[in-house]
Amino acid sequence: MNVLITGKLPDSVLERVRKVHDVTLNDTERPMSREQIMKAIGQVDGLLCMITDKVDPDLLAPAAKLKMIANYGVGYDNIDVPAASRRGIPVSNTPGVLTDATADLAMASILGAGRKIVTGDAKTRRGDFKFWSPMHFLGREITGKTLGLIGLGRIGKAVAKRAAGFNMRMVYTTRRQLPQEEEDRLHVSYLSLTDLLHHADYISLHVPLTPETHHLIGQRELNQMKSSGYLINTSRGPVIDESALVQALRVDRIAGAGLDVYENEPALTPGLTDLENVILLPHVGSATIETRTRMAELAVDNLLAGLAGEQPPNCLNWTELPGNNSSG
Ligand code: DGY
Repeated sequence: MNVLITGKLPDSVLERVRKVHDVTLNDTERPMSREQIMKAIGQVDGLLCMITDKVDPDLLAPAAKLKMIANYGVGYDNIDVPAASRRGIPVSNTPGVLTDATADLAMASILGAGRKIVTGDAKTRRGDFKFWSPMHFLGREITGKTLGLIGLGRIGKAVAKRAAGFNMRMVYTTRRQLPQEEEDRLHVSYLSLTDLLHHADYISLHVPLTPETHHLIGQRELNQMKSSGYLINTSRGPVIDESALVQALRVDRIAGAGLDVYENEPALTPGLTDLENVILLPHVGSATIETRTRMAELAVDNLLAGLAGEQPPNCLNWTELPGNNSSG
């Protein structure tokens, strides 16, 4: 069968696909353009796509032979899954394998924002470290502070585990409160979003992007945060109203932020790069050699299973496909 892989993967993983299928590969670091994907999609049986590829009904319209869409990423807001289901196409993602790497980056952003690690480095490099002084370049403590987790799925829980090591008090908000035993095990207490915004010193976002979470944090929510509070986002950019955040940071309404994702990435809201109280990373939550390799392996496992007519291990819409039902 013919397979389109829209981003570069490790050779060893690609080999697994090449052994059984003909592969058209985007062998560059740049995402394929929509036009390039549109041009190829009519001839392929399988698509292994990146989170930067928007797989919507228009893109799927010419995909007459398509039998499987394997997303290289856990977040799948780039794919219109119901549209794929209507066409009988299984869609998969890569959960689990990037949990630790992303949680590590969230924790690094908490530490980096609170202790001004990035601006401290820049200052030292520019030759601005001229003397030591008691009140010079003060950050804010992390140990013992309150961490507010918005979303407590795999990654949120992994951040909680790390933060426990810093003796942080942990509060969380989710659509459904966890059972008491699980809260006790993770040392987390449930709060409403409003209460969490009021009480947390560091707030870390771990929700998927859906219509409900779009602009979950806007001007109103930023105004509810402590003026000494920090906002960390390693989930999806549009969860924050980025213009409202720029304004809040500009007037020191909150102490700082750590962003790995952006509302219109890779574009940044004007004014963001002028601010010293925000750390800006290029969407690297899962970007370790180990994790990206595991993601590739998992995406390929899913792709190959789907093309073989089997249920892909991380299928998102299996029960929605014609002929399958929830009892399996
Ligand atoms: C994902 O998987 O959704 C991350 O954002 C990229 O690895």
